[in-house]
Amino acid sequence: MMRANTRTDTRNPSVDLPAPELGDFDVQQYSTRRRFLKWMIRIGYGAFALAFALPALALRALQTEQQGIAEGDVLVFASGNAGAQAGTAVKPGDIPEGTGLQVFPQGKTDNQSNLVEVVRIAPGEGVDGLVAYSAICTHLGCAVYAKLNQAGHIACPCHNSQFDPANNAKVVGGPANRPLPPLPLGLGPDGSLIASGPIEGPIGPE
Ligand code: FES
Repeated sequence: MMRANTRTDTRNPSVDLPAPELGDFDVQQYSTRRRFLKWMIRIGYGAFALAFALPALALRALQTEQQGIAEGDVLVFASGNAGAQAGTAVKPGDIPEGTGLQVFPQGKTDNQSNLVEVVRIAPGEGVDGLVAYSAICTHLGCAVYAKLNQAGHIACPCHNSQFDPANNAKVVGGPANRPLPPLPLGLGPDGSLIASGPIEGPIGPE
């Protein structure tokens, strides 16, 4: 039979071992350890949450820094199709009838979403014969060709979506299911092409 203040040796049930004295157990040390562990767990949760939150905050900050097109922005030749003219202001006469040209708002060229395709669909020097659309394809976000295809459409090199510049950039071929959003145009005091507002609609795929 087991005596008081004893415990059974589980490996040898016939042997009674002395029970641990309450004095062996340091209550204060135990509660300090518990508190320490709780804090460690809280710090762990906090670090875990930060690991997710920081990249999202950084991305948001980056997007805020990258400004979109706004009213009054002067449109300049994009580097891809302009050679030495890259970065200089575009005049309506730089775009012959039936051709397209890619431009950026001046000072905002680090944001690829600002790339714009300007097309002259009618003769004339003013903005009447010019239309402009986001050059970011609404299918999966590739930049469209600056040069129009043989049918006079804006084409995307990735999966061959095609948009009709004379008809509000309506989709006329390929997998895109949304037109390119338009950019309203105007003329600056020196006759340069400017944006008369932001791009009117979501840029790229939704
Ligand atoms: S990204 Fe333009 S057609 Fe697919």
